[in-house]
Amino acid sequence: MNATINLEKKHFPVLLNELISIISPLYGGTFIDCTFGQGGYSKAILNNISNKVIAIDRDNEVTSIAQSLQKKNNGRFSFYNKKFSDLKDLKTKSSDIKGVIFDLGCSSNQIFDLKRGLSFNSAGKLDMRLGLNNFSCDDVISKISENNLFKIFKYFGEDKNSKLISRKIIQKRAIQKLKTQDIVKIIEQVKKFKFSKKHPSTKIFQALRIYINKEISELINGLISSFQILPKGGIIAVVTFHSIEDKIVKFFFKNYSDKKNTSRYLPNNIKNNCLFMENLKPILPSKKEITLNPASRSAKLRYAIKIEENNNFREIFDKFNYLLEVENLNHTQ
Ligand SMILES: C[S@@+](CC[C@H](N)C(=O)[O-])C[C@H]1O[C@@H](n2cnc3c(N)ncnc32)[C@H](O)[C@@H]1O
Repeated sequence: MNATINLEKKHFPVLLNELISIISPLYGGTFIDCTFGQGGYSKAILNNISNKVIAIDRDNEVTSIAQSLQKKNNGRFSFYNKKFSDLKDLKTKSSDIKGVIFDLGCSSNQIFDLKRGLSFNSAGKLDMRLGLNNFSCDDVISKISENNLFKIFKYFGEDKNSKLISRKIIQKRAIQKLKTQDIVKIIEQVKKFKFSKKHPSTKIFQALRIYINKEISELINGLISSFQILPKGGIIAVVTFHSIEDKIVKFFFKNYSDKKNTSRYLPNNIKNNCLFMENLKPILPSKKEITLNPASRSAKLRYAIKIEENNNFREIFDKFNYLLEVENLNHTQ
């Protein structure tokens, strides 16, 4: 890929029309945009003057876009530089909230800003921090054990070459300090340039990004917090981009939804159906959207409506404990 062309790429909010038709902002209300990014979803909701948006993003660099939206929509838009796992700290009055939306992952602007070290094309250190992090990918790559690196690649990247790639990275690290292009080269050598629509480093980079940004606990806690701040009748809508995210969102909606009978984790006569899921199948981008924005091809939109209160979400932590354990692996030795 050519960096100059990439830097000029336009940002397209994914599945925007579908999301808007689901959350029905036409009827007015307050919406929480948990992943503000370039503000594509927030702007579309604010088009109706009876709506308010509270937006959050962990990336401090989107603040200037948020500030200009704040100026244009006096009193109807506010922004917080926070992680969505901290949603409950916003102290918003819950009866006002109509919907909480998530558009997971990172934006094209973050990837194509090569200084951020999120891209296969970055020249310097691999960084991967989206914001409000405790450590960078470079910290991890320079210290982590081979076995822990392998587990991150295996569980978060689901890459079948995880073992060999982690071994080669640790071997090379003993000789030199590794930069992004060194890691890309190791992956390409292991994968022997087999033809694929995706860049050979996609899964390994995805794995590192999930680990650095603690994306598994962020998502689980973000979903639970969004549920807790919503009044009954409020909607949670989530756009995912890879199978691990989608598995977690699908489990959350399906396991706690009215469509299932009794949870296998609970005694037979107890139900904790607190959501209503209209469609078990996700909404996918149209062919037209994929042609216009190929990055949308793996997007899936799922949504559910809160119907009851619930304080017990132990099952989702039990179900994904194997991923939470990988997220907590030590990377300092
Ligand atoms: C795909 S982009 C969102 C694009 C946005 N919907 C738009 O139309 O411009 C994802 C955004 O979510 C942010 N993000 C990712 N994980 C987050 C988290 N745990 N808490 C808050 N923001 C997060 C990223 O920094 C990025 O800006």
